Parts: sequence; structure tokens; C-alpha cells
Amino acid sequence: MRLIKEISQMKTWSETSRKNGLRIGFVPTMGYFHEGHLSLMRRAKELADKVVVSIFVNPIQFGPQEDFRDYPRDLERDARLAEEIGVDVIFTPKAEEMYPEGFQTFVEVERLTKPLCGARRPGHFRGVTTVCLKLFNIVKPHFAVFGLKDYQQYLVVKRMVADLNLDLEIIGHPIVREKDGLAMSSRNVYLSPEERKSATCLYKALCLAQEKVKKGVRIVPTLKQELEQFIISHPYTEIDYVEFCHPETLDPVKEIAGPTLLALAVFVGKARLIDNTLIEP
Ligand code: PAF
Repeated sequence: MRLIKEISQMKTWSETSRKNGLRIGFVPTMGYFHEGHLSLMRRAKELADKVVVSIFVNPIQFGPQEDFRDYPRDLERDARLAEEIGVDVIFTPKAEEMYPEGFQTFVEVERLTKPLCGARRPGHFRGVTTVCLKLFNIVKPHFAVFGLKDYQQYLVVKRMVADLNLDLEIIGHPIVREKDGLAMSSRNVYLSPEERKSATCLYKALCLAQEKVKKGVRIVPTLKQELEQFIISHPYTEIDYVEFCHPETLDPVKEIAGPTLLALAVFVGKARLIDNTLIEP
């Protein structure tokens, strides 16, 4: 496995691979790998001749009060895990090279970034789409794999790729969970043992909603109230949002009349956790 740090070297590697007719699969990450990341890499391996994984904690997608400085990092461990899976290149660009002095161009997807995490984290998706477009231009993949835990991110990146006629496919990969249902996330390391127990309330809330809908509860304000009460009955929790929306437009829905995305963001201690499920009545 190669470790590439410079943009020019990454571009040369990709150009050569493409000239040799190889199909490049790409997994963009911020590192500190867990089983969720590894499953994205395995999926990419199945579909590609060569797999590139980027590790870059992207400063422009964090708000000023967010956890950019504390975000967990362990390149040595990440490189070992990626190598075991058979990743061909780890690309770790430097922030100074990605955003040199004078940098002033950003990409913005308009409507899809307004609700959910976009409403709570101003500028977040502008940072995500900008870095993804830069990474796509550097790595030149035929496809990129994104985890569906960040469902809104997946939709936003897919929209950008379609709107800007980029020549790659965006593949969504199912959420990977711990045994007790907690969605895997690099931010789970922030949880104390007590908070970790409470954190299962996100997954349990998703299951509760599925059950209620199965039993015929379809009115969103009623469902929302029950879920919110359920979540805050767990210690250390603070709800950021509980939203039911259309799975493609992310427009809010008032009643469950067709496939509906239930998306949650909950602070458990200082960790802001997100999760989601598709409800099909
Ligand atoms: O999901 C992530 O880890 C990040 O948002 C991404 C896609 C790597 C962009 O920085």
C-alpha cells in the first residue's frame, strides 16, 4: 500500500492507473477508522481494480465551536487497518496544500442543505461539497462510496455530482452498527461508559418509530412527541433534531403516507450523534 501526501503525486498515480484501464474506487474519510469505514473499503474493493482512501480532517466543514481540534486521529492504526483490507493508496493531503493562502472558491448545493444538519451546522455542507469536489478532481475515481449514516451528506454529494456533470458514480452503503444498535462513528470515542449506555436511545428510538408506524400511528407530531420523550428519558441526552422527511427532497412531512426518512441528531454528553432509518408504511 502506498501512502501519498502530495496532491501532484496523487494526480499522477490516478492518471497512470486510468491510462492502464484500471477502475478506481474511492472512499473519502476523516480517519480514525471503525468497522463502518472498513465496510466502505471492502465494498469499494469488490467493485474496483484499485482503491484509494483519503484521510483528511477537513477544517472548513467544522463550525468555530465544533470539534475540529479534538477530532480523533491515528494515522498509523488507520494505515494498518486499510492495508489489511487491501487498500492500494492512502491519500493524506495537508490542509496548507488543500487550502493555500488566497483560496476562495466554494461549492454550494442549495435546497438539500437547508434542513436537518444543514440548519444546525451552518456552512458544514459547503465545506463537505467543496472538499469532495477537490478530492474527486485529485483522485479521479470512477466511483466513490459514502456511508448512509450521513444520509443528508450522501444526497447532497450525489446532487452536486449530477448538477456539475461530474464523471463518477456515488454509491451509498448501509449503516454499520454495534451489537446493541449504536451506529458506528468516530465520535463514539467521546462517550463515557454511562453516556455510551444512553447512546443506544437513538437506535431504540428508530425501532420505536418503526413499531408505532406498523401499529398505524401516522401523524408526525404525535410520533415526534413520543420519540422526543423517549430520548430525553435517557440521561446525558439533549435533542438537536427529530425529523420526518421525504427521502429524496428532505422536505418535512406531516403524515407518514409513503417511504419517509426519520433522521435524528442527539447530543449525548459532548458527542453529537446522528442516525436515521427509512420508514416504509
Ligand atoms: O463523512 C466524512 O467523513 C466527511 O464529511 C467527508 C465526506 C470525508 C468529507 O470531509
